[in-house]
Amino acid sequence: MLSTDLSNVDSAEVVFDAIKNIKIDVLVNCAGFGIYGSFAENNWQQESSMLNLHIITITHLTKLVLQGMIERDRGKILNVSSLAAFQPGPMMALYYASKSYLLSFSEAIANELKDTGVSVTVLCPGPTKTCFQEVVSNTSSDNKISFNMACPKAVAAYGYKAMLKGKVVAIPGVFNKFLANLPRLLTRKRTTSIVRKIQEKNRTEPSNTCVFEKDVVLIKKNV
Ligand SMILES: NC(=O)c1ccc[n+]([C@@H]2O[C@H](COP(=O)([O-])OP(=O)(O)OC[C@H]3O[C@@H](n4cnc5c(N)ncnc54)[C@H](OP(=O)(O)O)[C@@H]3O)[C@@H](O)[C@H]2O)c1
Repeated sequence: MLSTDLSNVDSAEVVFDAIKNIKIDVLVNCAGFGIYGSFAENNWQQESSMLNLHIITITHLTKLVLQGMIERDRGKILNVSSLAAFQPGPMMALYYASKSYLLSFSEAIANELKDTGVSVTVLCPGPTKTCFQEVVSNTSSDNKISFNMACPKAVAAYGYKAMLKGKVVAIPGVFNKFLANLPRLLTRKRTTSIVRKIQEKNRTEPSNTCVFEKDVVLIKKNV
């Protein structure tokens, strides 16, 4: 196992250097975290770490690993985005924006690669019972979601199956599929104000217990 902080801008190179002699058939870009609070007041160091992790590292690692996959005409990439990708998210503005980037980037390169043996899948889960909500709380406020919480194993299994099938956009759950399409039915302004209300309401909801198992961890932060 390799431990590295993927929010460092050169971390994709560090990881790739360590694995470059291995033929990579599957790349899963899953690491991520959220920051709650207004953009004007949030801490830039945390925010830039999140942007580096969600945007720079994932994009760079995908580019590095993709070369070998294209040469072998075989490979699968799974990028973990979020339901947050489908609309702006006041009070978690950069998190939503970075997940939108990941959705757009993944869909675009999936199209570029459609005549090759390499597929790109972007998984867009709704709220899932992991430690994510705890991390969001620790970053600034008391943000807790208790509604529509999915089981992480079911979400992971859904994403894995979608990746094997080569599905481009994978949204687990019927309600989440409906929510992802809701912005098409409303104005962007209306959608944005609904998200703000939900974010502010979540701040006052009671906490969920974080119970989950990590079966496979490929890359972890230094501790
Ligand atoms: N849970 C949700 O409600 C939800 C919904 C939609 C999308 N997602 C996305 O799902 C993905 C996985 O999150 P999760 O729900 O499983 O949350 P989680 O339980 O907090 O796990 C996050 C994972 O990312 C790793 N990570 C965070 N910052 C890192 C860094 N700088 N370098 C290396 N690793 C780092 C963490 O490593 P450590 O354990 O070492 O900190 C942990 O393994 C994220 O991209 C998240 O945005 C989650």
